[in-house]
Parts: sequence; structure tokens; C-alpha cells
Amino acid sequence: MSSFSDLLQKDRASTDSFIARLPKAELHLHIEGSLEPEMMFAKAKKHGVALAHSSVAELRAAYDFANLQEFLDLYYAGANVLRDQDDFYDLTWAYLQRAKADNVVHVEIFFDPQTHTARGIDLEIVVEGIVQALHDGEAELGITWRLIPNFLRHLSEQDAIDTLAELEPYMENFHGFGLDSSEVGFPPSKFARVFAEIRSRGLPVVAHAGEEGPPEYIYEALDILKVSRIDHGIRAIEDEALVSRLARAQIPLTVCPLSNVKLCAVPSLEAHPLKKLMKAGVVVTINSDDPAYFGGYIGENYRATAKALDLSNDELKSLAAMSIRGSWLHEVQKARHLAVIDQL
Ligand code: ADE
Ligand code: ZN
Repeated sequence: MSSFSDLLQKDRASTDSFIARLPKAELHLHIEGSLEPEMMFAKAKKHGVALAHSSVAELRAAYDFANLQEFLDLYYAGANVLRDQDDFYDLTWAYLQRAKADNVVHVEIFFDPQTHTARGIDLEIVVEGIVQALHDGEAELGITWRLIPNFLRHLSEQDAIDTLAELEPYMENFHGFGLDSSEVGFPPSKFARVFAEIRSRGLPVVAHAGEEGPPEYIYEALDILKVSRIDHGIRAIEDEALVSRLARAQIPLTVCPLSNVKLCAVPSLEAHPLKKLMKAGVVVTINSDDPAYFGGYIGENYRATAKALDLSNDELKSLAAMSIRGSWLHEVQKARHLAVIDQL
């Protein structure tokens, strides 16, 4: 006879295998945040770059963050080992292989141009390395892609404007622009002009808002930057009118549950507002943010969230479908993936 815990374990295993079969889109992934410690050490050795930690284990042990800033300090330091085109290629290719293992069919990837130009790395090296891997990923792994440069909000708007000018020769590779880095004290409105310029070229924009920052930042991202998605957006839960608006306007939130726990944006996964937002009709998607730092890629984010919030298979299907619908794929491609999800 099976014990209760045996049954629970079987149930978990069947949920996990259901998650594995769901085609998913990842819409919130910082490519620099997929730099695993092993690769960081290998690249540091290759370029003779000194690291602040003496081993992979010691570095992993340092991934214990009290807030966003503590993480960003390590994340920017880690990115310092990325120096040539092969480094950006290897980083992106490694991520795509992980994504493939989780049945990700489409990725919309962020990168931070200013993190690299500030160190004197030519943007051609960065863009060519990432884009070559994305092309190979599409050809060999069947993963379609979009690429989204993000501006660092702790820097000035003028710095973003200058960076946009530097990105000009590579514009055909970009499908939209975003805003990330330290949130509190750096409201979206600070970037009104540069985002207006990008929108005037017909490109969509997104912004991190409501990760650590207040609901007002989500309003600013919607009303001033006119974003088509909000990255994170979990603090919308504090404002009923905002939740209704997001649901009415069907503005997707690219939620990153393990990231929110690791950065103490929520007290625990069990306390995460994802399910409440979903039940209120908000378009919610599950993503990994910076998986090398936060303990899991997209599959692990789905599994851990399903367990903590007791998500049903129908709710998991709905989350995967929202990731496809919230993506920038063409309608025909969306319909193809949605039909597969529908049949599961
Ligand atoms: N850059 C990389 N990850 C980020 C996050 N979670 N929030 C803001 N900026 C980031
Ligand atoms: Zn992010």
C-alpha cells in the first residue's frame, strides 16, 4: 500500500513531467545572468582576470543576497570576464542548451550594452557573439529568438542616449529595448526621452518595474515609457486599481519567482503573488531572470512555483500559453505553439 508521502511524490513527478512537455517562451533572461561560476572561472583564467573568490564553491556560497543591489554588485563584477566574441558566443550557446533541455521554444534575451562599453569592450564583439549563437540556436535547436538591449537605470539618461547612438550599426538585430539595474531611486520617468525616441522608430519597449520599486514605477512605465510588457511587476499586487488595469489592458508581467525569493522581494515562494495576479486576470509569465545566480533555469522556476503555489496542470498550461501570447513572435508561430499546448 502506498503511503501518503509516496502518493505526493508520484504527483510531484507527474507535474514535473507535465512541465517538461509544455512548450515555453522565456521573456525575461539577462544573458550576463546566465554566466555559471564554472564558465566565469574558465574565462577569468583565459584572460588573466583576477576574481574576488578563490573557487567555484566559494563563489556559489557568496550567492546569498539581501536585496537587488547586493546581487548586482556580483553580477557586474562577474561580467568582467567576458572579453571577446567567443566569450559572448559561449555564454549564449550554453544558455540555449539549458533552455532546450527545458523545452523552451522561443527566447527574448536581454543584454546590458553599458556593462561592456564601460569596460572598453566594443559593442561589435558583444552583439556579434550573442547573435551568432542565437542564429546557431535557431538552426540547430529550433529555438526562435528576439534580442533586447537594456539601459542601466543607475546611469544617466544621457548615457542611455549615447549608448543608443553606439548601437546604431547593429539595430537590425534588436527587436525592442528595455530598462534594468538598481530600481529604487531611479524611476522610469528618468528615461522618457530616450524611450520616446525608440518608440518613434516603431520598436516596442519594456521596463523592469515593481520588482523592489513601488507600484508608482509601474504606472510610470505604462504611462510615460508606454511599455508593452512589465518585467517583474509583482508589487502591482499592492494596488487593486493597477491590477485591474493590467488585466484589462492585457499587459504581460514577466515574473521571475526564484529571483524574487533570492533577492528577498518576497518572503517565500509560498507567499509569491503570482497565482493571485493570474486569478485576477493578469497575463503572467514565468521566467528565470539570472538563472546562474538564482538557483534555477526556467524549468526549475515552473517546478518550484507549481509546488509552492499548488498550481494545477490547467494553470501550468495557461502560464505556458501566456508566455507564447506575450512574446513578440508572429501570430502564425504563436498559433502553432498554442495548438501544441492545447493538446496536452
Ligand atoms: N539586471 C540583471 N538582473 C536584474 C534584475 N533582476 N533586476 C534589475 N536589473 C537586473
Ligand atoms: Zn531582470
